[in-house]
Amino acid sequence: HKHIDHATPEKVLAAIHAGETHAVIPDYQGYAEYVADGGYRKLKELRANGNWEEVQAKIKEAGLRGLGGAGFPSGTKWGFVRANAGPRYVAVNGDEGEPGTFKDRHHLEREPHMFLEGMLISAWAVEADKAFIYMRDEYPAVLELLRREIAALEKAGIVEPGYIDLRRGAGAYICGEESAMIESIEGKRGEPRHRPPFVAQVGIFGQPTLVHNVETLYWVARVCRVGPEVMNSVEKNGRKGLRNYSVSGRVANPGVFLLPAGSTITDIIEAAGGMAEGHVFKAYQPGGPSSGLLPASMSDVPLDFDTLQPHGTFIGSAAVVVLSEKDSAKEAALNMLRFFEDESCGQCTPCRVGCEKAVKLMQADTWDQDLLEELSQTMVDASICGLGQAAPNPIRMTIKHFPEEV
Ligand code: NAI
Ligand code: SF4
Repeated sequence: HKHIDHATPEKVLAAIHAGETHAVIPDYQGYAEYVADGGYRKLKELRANGNWEEVQAKIKEAGLRGLGGAGFPSGTKWGFVRANAGPRYVAVNGDEGEPGTFKDRHHLEREPHMFLEGMLISAWAVEADKAFIYMRDEYPAVLELLRREIAALEKAGIVEPGYIDLRRGAGAYICGEESAMIESIEGKRGEPRHRPPFVAQVGIFGQPTLVHNVETLYWVARVCRVGPEVMNSVEKNGRKGLRNYSVSGRVANPGVFLLPAGSTITDIIEAAGGMAEGHVFKAYQPGGPSSGLLPASMSDVPLDFDTLQPHGTFIGSAAVVVLSEKDSAKEAALNMLRFFEDESCGQCTPCRVGCEKAVKLMQADTWDQDLLEELSQTMVDASICGLGQAAPNPIRMTIKHFPEEV
């Protein structure tokens, strides 16, 4: 039953008993309900007599930053893309591959039109000729509901048939890297390109391309429909806005929690119902394996963009994985490097050979810390893309915070 999606346990069980092997579509807000709730009014209004710079100003005022994990200011990106002559494209990154990240799926399975309207508003803002959605194939229910809802948009005349091109990923983590995703959309092997030029200048088929993550576009629609205050009216620990934290690991109720951007791990564990029974909090990944492990003692740091930089790591996609005293930091770090070794596209030597070598060194009873540090620095300095540059984070964080284990 590998294609059965976990909509609700009841639905999945019913599907299994009925012998179904296709995706179980979760209950979600369809086109008619979304329109009844005021949906697509903003898009129509903007298309009729909107000014893209006014919308950009609103997005900037809201403080919206790229929620794939890099936190690049979203409104600024629109300007970069528009600065280049068309035809221009929009490409949505729905290849949510960072282990522990499931917030895009959460929104897509509930309010797909909020995301679709955000995408069409962005496409209008940069005058895009076409919008590509690159969706993770491991989300079969999402793919199916998007097919249905895109057909509904075409039928309603909101988009021309074919304007939205839904593409399936094929299970490669690297295809979530924006230029590898673009290579894949072009029908090639998913290997990252060198930067510059940025995809805003040279993207799909050499044309300027606006790449946004699913959740970023969800918030574009919310900000346009409600106003910047939907994001900027919340303040905590000196940080403004809201963050969706995907929380998993040793907590009582794993899930996606929308909390103030200045939330600490203590707030996040509390939102997830506390620690799972019998577990004592020991460590956490703030943003998936790319961010490495932090110790429980760092429980008062707001988990937002920029706040973890002084500690040598970053929040990324806010994939918070909680570990307990029953877990080994050393084993967890090795597991993370095995993941990177497996997912490295193999294009450049520092990452391809570096991940493999790191895994070997990390299997020793006692780590050769000097050699691992030298290897880490080489990977950071010389890898082409973020995968190879971030892969040493679990090594460095473990040496720094759990020296007794390694
Ligand atoms: P980046 O900071 O290099 O770029 C972010 C975005 O800004 C890109 O779209 C880039 O094209 C654009 N940009 C940056 N400088 C620009 C310039 N001067 N001109 C025009 N455009 C510019 O980060 P990157 O490598 O795209 O993403 C890294 C993040 O992705 C990490 O935080 C990591 O945690 C996260 N990530 C998320 C995953 C997920 O499943 N959500 C999976 C793996 C990584
Ligand atoms: Fe490929 Fe790794 Fe090089 Fe990125 S850093 S291009 S994933 S080999």
